[in-house]
Formats: sequence, C-alpha cells, structure tokens
Amino acid sequence: MEERLQKILARAGICSRRQAEKLILAGRVKVDGQVIKELGVKADPAQQRIEFDGKPLPKPTLVCYLLNKPRGYVTTMKDPQGRPIVSALMKGVKERVFPVGRLDLDTEGALLMTNDGDLSQRILHPSNEVKKTYLARVSGRPSHKKLSELEKGIILDGKKTWPAKLRIIKSHGASTTVEVVIHEGRKRQVRLMFAAIGHPVLELKRIAYGKLGLGVLRVSEFRKLSAHELKKVFK
Ligand code: URA
Repeated sequence: MEERLQKILARAGICSRRQAEKLILAGRVKVDGQVIKELGVKADPAQQRIEFDGKPLPKPTLVCYLLNKPRGYVTTMKDPQGRPIVSALMKGVKERVFPVGRLDLDTEGALLMTNDGDLSQRILHPSNEVKKTYLARVSGRPSHKKLSELEKGIILDGKKTWPAKLRIIKSHGASTTVEVVIHEGRKRQVRLMFAAIGHPVLELKRIAYGKLGLGVLRVSEFRKLSAHELKKVFK
C-alpha cells in the first residue's frame, strides 16, 4: 500500500515525520534508486526499494489483528462522509494496518486488520474458499424449504451464489437467529440472500473466519494473532 515517504520513514523508526521532511528535502532518501527531493511523494514499502543515506529501510514487520468491529464504523481507510473508520479503533498499533475485505456499516464482528498485502489477498482470493460464519437475526421464521434454497444457491445480480450452510440457532417470536457459513464475499451478500427469500436481516454479526472465532473479544476490542491462529483462518 502506498504512503507518503515521510510517514514511511517515521514508521521505520528513522525519525519523526517532521524530521523526515528535512531529510527528504536534503536529498538523503531514494526510491528505486532515484533521489526524491519533493514532499508528498508516495511509495509502497512492500513493493519498492526505499533507501535512507544509501541503506535500505528495514522491512516493516508483518502483523495481523482480529478486531471486533462495532456497528457504525466503515471498513475503508478514509471516509469522505466523515463517518468513523475502523483503523481509528486500532489504538497503540504502530503498523499501518488495513481491513481485509469489508463489513457493512451496520454489521459488527470479526474483521482482520493487517499490513500484509499478500496475506490479505490469500484470505480474499475466491480459490482459497475461506469460510466466514455469520449470525443473522432475520425477520420472521424462514421455513426449511427457504433455507435450503439459500443452501443450494440463489441468483443474486444475475449470478448464482455458492452453496452455503445454514442452521437455525434460536427463534425469538417475530425474528429468528440463523447461522450462515459462506466462502464468497460479495457485497451485502448475507443481507441480499435473506431479502431474496422474504426475511430481511435485522442484525448481522460475523463470528468467525474459518476456525478462528471471535472468542471473548468484546465489541471494539482487538488482539494480535499468532502464526498458529492465522492458520485457523484457512481451515
Ligand atoms: N454480508 C453482508 O450482507 N454484510 C456484511 O457486512 C458481510 C456479509
């Protein structure tokens, strides 16, 4: 991911952002062999060779966190409408982490945050079929017939959804909580699936990626994942 050079230098522990501006203006920073003397130039430390005084910058440590996203937060790095963004919740995290995929503004739950572009691609790539588990509280009580339609796949935006696994968890009278496991990640997929069978989603929460569940993480909390835990995402 591209960032301003002064931010990259500061993050690498070379200096503060203010000092980095001076170092850039003094011609002490190179990107892919070229001296950069203007401020505002962006580079991608994962893809480009950045040097300070002729020495390559240390590569950023790759990290991945599991965040329990609250409702009302957007999963983008900037929001032109000024709504709260998920990265603002990552207090004390010095790596520039970004969300892996998306969750709707109104959806809460498990969201991976990483600075590792390859990892993010592996999780999102359809060929890896990473399972995502949701709890959807839907209006009314969907019949088994309707749930099995969703399980087999329905046409959304002209394309059939992949088979899903659904199971009723609880009936609340006017609404029902259904567990949904899918490995696709189409925009608003779970909401569209239930809307298509006439049982709109009232509340939606993602509770797991693969075998990695939210566990005891409370809303707005996050924790760093170990390599062992990351493997569970793909199981
Ligand atoms: N499906 C949805 O409808 N919304 C989400 O945020 C995630 C999956």
